[in-house]
Amino acid sequence: MSDAVLETERLTKRYGRRVAVDALSLAVRRADIYGFLGQNGAGKSTTIRMALGLVRPTAGRVRLLGQDMAKRPHRALARTGAMVEAPAFYENFTGRQNLTMLAALSGGAPRRRVDETLELVGLAARADDAVRAYSHGMRQRLGIAQALLPNPEFVILDEPTDGLDPQGIRETRELIRRLRDELKLTVMLSSHLLHEVEQLCDRVAIIDGGRLLYEGGVAELTGGGEIVRLRVDRPDEALRVLADDPTLAASRNGTQFIYVRAGGGRVADVNALLVARGLRVSEIVPHRETLEEAFTRLVGEARRGV
Ligand SMILES: Nc1ncnc2c1ncn2[C@@H]1O[C@H](COP(=O)(O)OP(=O)(O)O)[C@@H](O)[C@H]1O
Ligand SMILES: [Mg+2]
Repeated sequence: MSDAVLETERLTKRYGRRVAVDALSLAVRRADIYGFLGQNGAGKSTTIRMALGLVRPTAGRVRLLGQDMAKRPHRALARTGAMVEAPAFYENFTGRQNLTMLAALSGGAPRRRVDETLELVGLAARADDAVRAYSHGMRQRLGIAQALLPNPEFVILDEPTDGLDPQGIRETRELIRRLRDELKLTVMLSSHLLHEVEQLCDRVAIIDGGRLLYEGGVAELTGGGEIVRLRVDRPDEALRVLADDPTLAASRNGTQFIYVRAGGGRVADVNALLVARGLRVSEIVPHRETLEEAFTRLVGEARRGV
């Protein structure tokens, strides 16, 4: 059996002519903190809804915790917690009452479980205030509490840090780390806040216009030391020399620097190649893109049809 907690296979959703999700194949592995990234309208929420059986796919398949969602969704859903977009609550009831009512709908949870969950998300002290008095951050945390209440092994959080201030974002990040490290949960979270995701996620998927642009490790995407930045005396000429070797993928960013993808210990080759043509290399340093830069690059390339 595969170790995937969630697998989608060419998952597609069309609304009329609009393709919201386009043949998307993802794999969230056990114990991942998996970032699902894309700009607004990229198709994140629609994908998550299909994964949870809330929206019917136009085509493709979803396997959640080993179960085919088109055939046997119930057992998998019972082991999955989710917060999809901004969660809704009964405003005049307290946080604790909201959780208790929710638990009652799905067969009830012991009072202890409600308390534990409130504690875990840091709402214990405000549990008996009406939700209408909650800040945006407290609502988000109550939403996460709702997802955690049934003691799931997999949680899907749709934009859990959306609209939070830096402090709220930090707290949510720490909470998500604890879910994985202490409770051994697998977490999938969608976000358009790339800086946050970079610090939190092991693996990411990047989508744009419903299509997958990248799935894999963050380090692999951002260079992982394989990209080097060169300072050369005649950069235009150097770029032409390097372009003769297509495996090097050299580029220039409008500065005096040249960026070369030189994996597998090829840095010395790059240097030798330039020096052999009489170019003077004064600097070779490993370069990492930020996740944000890598994201912008991928989306730009995809939209230009590169
Ligand atoms: N129920 C719907 N009916 C029609 N179009 C929809 C519906 N839900 C989403 N869409 C469209 O699908 C695309 C993807 O939306 P969504 O999945 O919400 O993106 P994201 O969560 O990444 O912001 C958008 O163009 C959106 O307008
Ligand atoms: Mg969304």
